[in-house]
Amino acid sequence: MTAKTMEEIVSLCKRRGFIFQSNEIYGGIKGLYDYGPMGVELKNNLKQAWWKSMVYERDDIEGLDASILSLPLVLKQSGHEETFSDPLIDCRSCKSRWRDDQIEEGKCPNCKSKDITDPRPFNLMFKTAIGPVDDGSSFAYLRPETCQQIFTNFKNVLDSTSRTIPFGIAQIGKAFRNEITPRNFIFRVREFEQMELEFFVEPGSDDKWHKYWIDKRVEWWINQGIDKSKIKLVNVEKKELSHYSKATVDIMYNFPHGEEELEGVANRTDFDLGSHTKNQNEFNIISNVLKNENSTTKLGFQKLDEKKWYIPYVIEPSAGVERGFLALLNEAYKEEKIDDNNYRIVLKLKPHLSPIKAAVIPLKKNNEKIVKISKNIKKNLQKIGLGRVMLENSGNIGKNYRRHDEIGTPICITVDFETLDDNSVTVRDRNTMEQKRINIDSLDSYYINYFN
Ligand code: GAP
Repeated sequence: MTAKTMEEIVSLCKRRGFIFQSNEIYGGIKGLYDYGPMGVELKNNLKQAWWKSMVYERDDIEGLDASILSLPLVLKQSGHEETFSDPLIDCRSCKSRWRDDQIEEGKCPNCKSKDITDPRPFNLMFKTAIGPVDDGSSFAYLRPETCQQIFTNFKNVLDSTSRTIPFGIAQIGKAFRNEITPRNFIFRVREFEQMELEFFVEPGSDDKWHKYWIDKRVEWWINQGIDKSKIKLVNVEKKELSHYSKATVDIMYNFPHGEEELEGVANRTDFDLGSHTKNQNEFNIISNVLKNENSTTKLGFQKLDEKKWYIPYVIEPSAGVERGFLALLNEAYKEEKIDDNNYRIVLKLKPHLSPIKAAVIPLKKNNEKIVKISKNIKKNLQKIGLGRVMLENSGNIGKNYRRHDEIGTPICITVDFETLDDNSVTVRDRNTMEQKRINIDSLDSYYINYFN
């Protein structure tokens, strides 16, 4: 079975070094988390899998890594200064703060008092001062989504790569939102990472590409280990659509706390490039964009055969790294009975996502020969470059197996006294717990085949 409760996942994350409360030794702060030795590996592997599928395995997508600090002008044109807010309500009795949609029957959810304020808009963007003088005249926003810098770099990427439409720009990076009520562990946080693709297409082909990317993204999540039956596609209702969207389909996942959005796939039409371009009146922009008197660059594309310029439409699959992380942990977490008296917790992550690819365990920590062989095996497997290989030289073998089951290590390799006689090691499979002897000379190919 998968994890029963969020508490079980939170507990495993702390116990095994996946996720810690940020600033914990000073009391912590809501909505911020730190990723520990196992967490950083899983997160990197998840991001790497996305990057591979978007950039390396395709021939129509380029990558980008843009700055987090954004000029206010960018977020004015994007519509965020005007619209990126949640209605905020204060309880005058217990001083708690709520989003409007959390208030039921006009009462504070905490103390049940009816003495609450009217909702007022609260902009979710963080600001910071730029330069040595903090007089409010020169500030930047911490980007609330990664994609705006993809739009502002549209021409740079186009010119430097000679791409034609359709093509995409992919980016992974931090985004910041001053959420009023961060909650459900890493599901809704104030600092998170997004994996965003902005795919530029000709107007008229947008509906086709929108459907294409919805299918592709669902397929990708299933390949990462998400059970198809826990995914649901939801067409966002017209009145709920973001200001830039013609249509959005949310990929919903059945998280431990309920069904919620894992990723959104939006048809952003010509809103973004149309809003950030100079000479807007040269184009037939259909979206309701703010007048732009500051941009220095035309963000259109010229159809060479017709010599005609147009603003490309954008299809955007936008996924949250933390939500993916949580969904994958939830899927992988299994509690299994070994026999009448014993059970184990095992993370059945897909091997490419596992934080540790293989653990090499010397059975006797004080036997020089055994330790030396173990270190050599570790070094050789590490060189293959599939991810972190760990020399596990503490604890007894039973404890090591338990620990590596809980962090999802696909294979454990034990070096023992028999190794000294016949050059073979014990290889234990995480999923089946089966153990077999393999000659050290065949370990490299066994390891490579396992991950392929
Ligand atoms: N560029 C489009 C965009 O940002 P969004 O639906 O606001 O759209 C996209 O965010 C994804 O980012 C969401 O599907 C979710 O996975 C993730 N996300 C958004 N806000 C988040 C938060 N406060 N904490 C964690 N992840 C978040």
